[in-house]
Formats: sequence, C-alpha cells, structure tokens
Amino acid sequence: MGKDVIIACDFSSAGECLDFLSHFTGRKPYVKIGMELFYSAGPDMVKKIKEKGHPIFLDLKLHDIPNTVMKAMRVLSNLDIDMCNLHAGGTKAMMEAALEGLTRPDGSRPLLIAVTQLTSTNEERMRHDLLIDRPLEEVVQHYAICAKEAGLDGVVCSPLEAGQVHKVCGHQFLTVTPGVRFPEGEKGDQARVTSPADAKKIGSDYIVVGRPITAAADPIAAYERCVADFVG
Ligand code: C5P
Repeated sequence: MGKDVIIACDFSSAGECLDFLSHFTGRKPYVKIGMELFYSAGPDMVKKIKEKGHPIFLDLKLHDIPNTVMKAMRVLSNLDIDMCNLHAGGTKAMMEAALEGLTRPDGSRPLLIAVTQLTSTNEERMRHDLLIDRPLEEVVQHYAICAKEAGLDGVVCSPLEAGQVHKVCGHQFLTVTPGVRFPEGEKGDQARVTSPADAKKIGSDYIVVGRPITAAADPIAAYERCVADFVG
C-alpha cells in the first residue's frame, strides 16, 4: 500500500479551493474535501477537483441510524471519490449498513474509513464529556477492531496510535492520520500531534495535513516537505 500525503482543503468556497489547487502544476496531491467545502460547493466541487486529476477523500464523517447512513452512502457512491468516512461510534451495525450502501452494483466502491476518536479529543475530555472511562489507546484500538469486523478498510486516528492499530488489525488495515504538524509549528485545536517524519516511523499509511500546508507562506514547499519527510 503506497503512502501518501492528503491535503485537507478546508476552504469555504469553490473559488478559494480551485485557486489554491491551481498552484500545484506538477504532482496532483490527494485532496480531502471536508464538510465546510462540501456543504458550500456540493458534488460539483468533487467533479471539478477530480477532473483536475486529484484523488479525493470525501471527509463527511457520517453518523446516524444504519438505514439513513446506508442511503446517504448510496448517494455518495455515485461520486467519483477514492475514499470516504464515518464515525465508528455509530456502531458496527451502522458501519455494515454504510458498506452496503457504498458498494456500487458492479461491486466497486471507494475506500471506507472509520473515525475512531477525533484528534482534537484527549483522555480527559473523553472521560468528562463522553463518560468513556478507558485509556484513549484502548478505545481507539477497540473502535478499529469493530471497523475491521464490519468490513471497513481502515481508520482515521492520530499517528501516535497508528502502530497499535496495525498491531491489532494487521498491516493491510489502513491508518489515515490527521493531527500532523511540523516540529516548529502551531498545534492549533489539535491535541494529539506528530511530525510527518514521526508519522512515517510509527507506520501511518496516509497523513492528512491541513493548515501547515494551506496556511503556509509557500504551500507548495510545505507540501513537498511533507512528501519528502513522510513518503521519502
Ligand atoms: O488543519 P489541520 O491539519 O488540523 O487539519 C486536519 C484535518 O483533518 C481537518 O480537516 C479535520 O477535520 C480532519 N480530521 C481531524 N481529526 C480527525 C478526523 C479528521 O483533524 N480525527
């Protein structure tokens, strides 16, 4: 499985995003379209970015009753995306329904990845706000096992947890890891962060990098630095 850097294109309009991507004239980076961009620019945005030759991770983090998620995934299966996701907290039944909805009549489908615990969450917030009284690592591993049992392709987790996830779910099971920062960078609202080089050492399959690239003075250089440090 090839390692790659996914740019989180958290822009509020199609124009801003397309302008940002127009600077990447050589290599076409893997692009993550999140809620902000999808809610403002819609499925058309997916088509436009795909036409430019970028692989797409549609990060909408679905979480609802199984039937609703299955039907929503059926709609998303009509888009030419490479990866999409949901919250493992929606239970195994929800994840199985999602997989069923996402699978096209010809049997093909985008990769389906489950969010374990958001990288903005830490153990104290989990205990206090969610009443989950177990160590964060154990929770992430358990959610990953559930996702694997439901037939999913991998999880979204912190790079710090990628090694443990591979240990319990195997190396074919993908770890997609946000919460990545250059050693000298700002953490922002992320609580569990790692550098691209450390994410590589721990064994992440994909790093998702937003502000360290999109808010950099030279986004192309920041992207190339991530690729050099992570993919090598
Ligand atoms: O700007 P930054 O590098 O923090 O962006 C990280 C991206 O990854 C954001 O788009 C955020 O929504 C997403 N994400 C995350 N933690 C997760 C799942 C997704 O930060 N567990």
